[in-house]
Amino acid sequence: MDHTATPPPQILVESLLAFWADAGVDCLYQDEASDRIAAGLTLPPRHAEPSSAPAAGAAGVGAAKVQTDDAIVLARRLAAGAQDLTELAAAITAFEGCALRYAGAVRQAVFSRGLANAPVMIIGEGPGAEEDARGEPFVGRAGQLLDRMLAAAGLTDRVFITNTVFWRPPGNRTPTLEEQQACAPFVERAIELVSPRILLLLGAASAKAMLKREEGILAMRGRWFEWRSADESLELPAMPTLHPAFLLRQPAAKKKAWSDLVSLVQRLDRPERPH
Ligand code: URA
Repeated sequence: MDHTATPPPQILVESLLAFWADAGVDCLYQDEASDRIAAGLTLPPRHAEPSSAPAAGAAGVGAAKVQTDDAIVLARRLAAGAQDLTELAAAITAFEGCALRYAGAVRQAVFSRGLANAPVMIIGEGPGAEEDARGEPFVGRAGQLLDRMLAAAGLTDRVFITNTVFWRPPGNRTPTLEEQQACAPFVERAIELVSPRILLLLGAASAKAMLKREEGILAMRGRWFEWRSADESLELPAMPTLHPAFLLRQPAAKKKAWSDLVSLVQRLDRPERPH
């Protein structure tokens, strides 16, 4: 056998794709490759810092902060104009203020699925590849596990499901606080329109952003917190729990997530106390 012969093109292509897949590259953002070295290296935008931070000497930080503030103002205006969930979905699709729209999403904004007046609103972190392709949250492997857990808890038809951001973060990284802040007015308007009785927050990125807390998810899960809207006009009980993607990697943690769901159902079905 001639070991020096070049393999057929199909084998070369398959092997190159397998190499990229092993390296974590699972999607293409454009048809042609960009030579970023020839174009001149540019640094990624720096993250915004608290508004008290001095802007002097940190033009990147100041610019990122201004961008985030502008995005939040625009998001609030668009979200406030939406009178129902269909209008809210259209407003999100029109929104250009979240950097993820241009970074991670290949196909579309991913807003929600579930019952429009559900008593439980589930808020995940952000869409993955499957969600980006299908336009609905939690439809990949983690979503299938979530659905099985909801079915076992009798919650299938009692939930509305969304995320803290509506575009897929590149390589499924955790969304940044700025990206979550830009999308937050839409999440808040969704809460107003659906009017759930309870929020279930999946994973650390959702719990930290929604509750503005710093503890890790293992410290927060299974406990009740009070979620408040930005203007403090709305408040709701909220429970963080483990993200189903984490449960796929750590099946032994499923019993913790199950006990969280059980206490959520108990609170949901508890008769309201007379005022
Ligand atoms: N993980 C999330 O947090 N949200 C999804 O929609 C899918 C996976």
